[in-house]
Amino acid sequence: MDKVIVVYWSQTGNTEMMANAIGEGAKEAGKEAVVVTPDKASLDDLKAAKAFALGCPAMGAEVLEEAEMEPFVCDVEKFVGGKSIVLFGSYGWGDGQWMRDWVDRMSAAGANILGNEGIMAHETPDEAVLDECKAVGKQLASL
Ligand SMILES: Cc1cc2nc3c(=O)[nH]c(=O)nc-3n(C[C@H](O)[C@H](O)[C@H](O)COP(=O)(O)O)c2cc1C
Repeated sequence: MDKVIVVYWSQTGNTEMMANAIGEGAKEAGKEAVVVTPDKASLDDLKAAKAFALGCPAMGAEVLEEAEMEPFVCDVEKFVGGKSIVLFGSYGWGDGQWMRDWVDRMSAAGANILGNEGIMAHETPDEAVLDECKAVGKQLASL
């Protein structure tokens, strides 16, 4: 892939840290990284990509953020079949149900989830999670 696209929503910066780490990994692998929020993301670029990453924390009651990310994911769902995607995000008091639901939803839409599960951070991502994000950024760059 020429460029690695990472689209994320983040309220307090935890998921944003993960998004930036994925972008860093892609850059370390020699690719351009486009790390953007849904309002700045190009659906056409995502349609043209073989693989990309989407990030959102657990919000509401174990759901995606409803004003921006949920409608964006609805759009992506329509063309994600056959693509390889990374799902990531931070959570707080739950146990990751929002991510398991998101993985199931995107798998049902025909996406191949890299690693077969989402990358999760409990609140602020620690070094291990950020390393995992960097590694998956490199993996996206290699596709
Ligand atoms: C309105 C709101 C709803 C939330 N709902 C959940 C939830 O359902 N499950 C959970 O584990 N954490 C929930 N959280 C905690 C956030 O997912 C957690 O603080 C996360 O680190 C925020 O990520 P961000 O810094 O990328 O915005 C919620 C936080 C807020 C403000």
